[in-house]
Amino acid sequence: MLFSTALRCGMALLLHSAASRAVTERFTGAYYEVTNVHTHSPSSQSDNVTIEFTVRDSDPLTNSTTTCNGSWPLGSNAYPTGGYLPCADLSFAWVFADNGFTNISSFTLQVEHSFKDPSMGPPPYDQVTTFAHTDIKPSNMDCVGAASGQADCKFPSNETVEAPIWATIAKR
Ligand SMILES: *[C@@H]1O[C@H](CO)[C@@H](O)[C@H](O)[C@H]1NC(C)=O
Ligand SMILES: *[C@@H]1O[C@H](CO)[C@@H](O)[C@H](O)[C@H]1NC(C)=O
Ligand SMILES: *[C@@H]1O[C@H](CO)[C@@H](O)[C@H](O)[C@H]1NC(C)=O
Ligand SMILES: *[C@@H]1O[C@H](CO)[C@@H](O)[C@H](O)[C@H]1NC(C)=O
Ligand SMILES: *[C@@H]1O[C@H](CO)[C@@H](O)[C@H](O)[C@H]1NC(C)=O
Repeated sequence: MLFSTALRCGMALLLHSAASRAVTERFTGAYYEVTNVHTHSPSSQSDNVTIEFTVRDSDPLTNSTTTCNGSWPLGSNAYPTGGYLPCADLSFAWVFADNGFTNISSFTLQVEHSFKDPSMGPPPYDQVTTFAHTDIKPSNMDCVGAASGQADCKFPSNETVEAPIWATIAKR
């Protein structure tokens, strides 16, 4: 009897700690790594500005890498903001921060990633989503412009920018 009470208490404690951890605690990853950023601005108003980049979440629970991209008409100010857009690996999504695009060498990226963390609880309570963001600055990129007005900015191949994780939720 004593044993079973202790066991029930232990169970309750575990459940309680799992529930409270759901919104407050974060595993081991502190940031994602952003590489291979490439932005392009066309010469013609009828063409699109484009961005593509690679993002890696090195959290040992997932350790995954994907590419993300977007495009919008030049001069439209209609760069992606608000709702997240899927990346190639659909467990990742990205969007510019609100008012987060100044020009092709100065913008703020937001990325989210969903994956399973068994320590959060049994399925389906083992899904977590982490959110990271980072500023990309002219100093991160090599830019070239052509007389036509088109321009490209790229990360050097050895450039990695850390995007700190600022929020975690327990279920999408
Ligand atoms: C993460 O994945 C990369 C490449 O897929 C691999 O080289 C690395 O050892 C992995 N790291 C961990 C901690 O599993
Ligand atoms: C330009 O961007 C818009 C908005 O994302 C998209 O609907 C359209 O297909 C793109 N056009 C080209 C030529 O990529
Ligand atoms: C942009 O991403 C989509 C979805 O992942 C992919 O199908 C497409 O090939 C990508 N486009 C470029 C130019 O990388
Ligand atoms: C882009 O915006 C940044 C920040 O305002 C500025 O320092 C930089 O000169 C701009 N680059 C171009 C090509 O306009
Ligand atoms: C990248 O490589 C260049 C040329 O080898 C070097 O000057 C630069 O310091 C490196 N940058 C980083 C972030 O390692």
